[in-house]
Amino acid sequence: AIDPQFHENREKVDEHNGHAVWGPVDEPEELGIHGTHVAVDFDLCIADGACLEDCPVDVFEWVDTPGHPESEEKADPAKEAQCIDCMLCVDVCPVDAIDVDAG
Ligand code: SF4
Ligand code: F3S
Ligand code: ZN
Repeated sequence: AIDPQFHENREKVDEHNGHAVWGPVDEPEELGIHGTHVAVDFDLCIADGACLEDCPVDVFEWVDTPGHPESEEKADPAKEAQCIDCMLCVDVCPVDAIDVDAG
């Protein structure tokens, strides 16, 4: 599962689509965590798609990640600022790749 303490245990190494990327990153095999309030561990995501289907405010968008061992696309928290903390995405992800910091 995604490390809920990732902000302490990882370094911010990049930005993508207006959100932070938390390393380590070594493309294409290692992609890190995307987002801060809504965080998706790209190295765990298997492109199940439940988060995209269920999010009531469409926070997620697919991004292509060719060459990643788990899946060739990932759910990117492109609109994390719109999140209403419903926690549905956290509940439906089969690999626990998502952390939402509802405070
Ligand atoms: Fe969307 Fe709810 Fe997940 Fe926020 S917690 S990203 S609103 S499904
Ligand atoms: Fe990926 Fe989990 Fe969403 S596997 S596509 S983050 S439901
Ligand atoms: Zn991203």
